[in-house]
Amino acid sequence: MLIRPAVDSDLPYLYDICLKTGDAGKDAASLFYDPYLLGHYFAAPYLFFDKTLCFIVEEDYTPQGYMVAAGESLTFYRWLLETWLPPLRRRYPDPPPGGRVKSRYEQKMMVLLHQVPGLPETASPWFSRYPAHLHINLLPPVQGKGQGKTLMRTLFAELERRKIPGVHLGVGIENPAAIGFYQKTGFSVLQEEAWGITMGKELNHGF
Ligand SMILES: CC(C)(COP(=O)(O)OP(=O)(O)OC[C@H]1O[C@@H](n2cnc3c(N)ncnc32)[C@H](O)[C@@H]1OP(=O)(O)O)[C@@H](O)C(=O)NCCC(=O)NCCS
Repeated sequence: MLIRPAVDSDLPYLYDICLKTGDAGKDAASLFYDPYLLGHYFAAPYLFFDKTLCFIVEEDYTPQGYMVAAGESLTFYRWLLETWLPPLRRRYPDPPPGGRVKSRYEQKMMVLLHQVPGLPETASPWFSRYPAHLHINLLPPVQGKGQGKTLMRTLFAELERRKIPGVHLGVGIENPAAIGFYQKTGFSVLQEEAWGITMGKELNHGF
């Protein structure tokens, strides 16, 4: 198994892995007519925005997992709003014509595309201390083998090099395995939401 910086040709694998782990860590494919919708929001834009903060877990020459991140989330969300989202908003109207959604989750994603990204995080009192954020998704065959931890260490080292003071992330309450993993890698609860919790970690402290 190998961890390496992401390259442009990883894009289809990001979409695929995002969908296959997108239902609180489980396969979300049966919940979407459009297999790309989740990746449009949670994976692909990071590769276009700053691929030097994206990393791939590769086995047998095939990407099996990824971590994507933004160092300055405010700048990322501004770019998302001005550059990435407008064409997607035209393609995915809110509400979708004819109610063409396969699940509440797909409906929720279409609504999300039309909202201002990054709220309420960017307006929260803790935000300036944890300006980076990340998403991490590994396929089942590479889970539980220490790759998640190594990805975290790789990202933390790069964020520390950039003098970024902290990193945050969102996790659904229905994903206790991920919450356990984040606690193990030094994250603690910053904010509780209806959908789950926002967790944060100050950098330069290791885990
Ligand atoms: C959550 C995820 C990123 C963890 O990565 P991983 O490679 O499986 O985890 P690791 O093997 O690196 O585990 C690192 C540490 O976390 C701990 N850990 C992992 N899962 C845990 C759990 N369910 N509860 C408590 N601790 C856990 C491990 O025991 C390990 O601790 P150790 O170093 O003391 O042995 C990965 O399993 C995954 O991608 N899951 C599916 C997608 C997902 O849910 N993503 C998060 C969306 S918010």
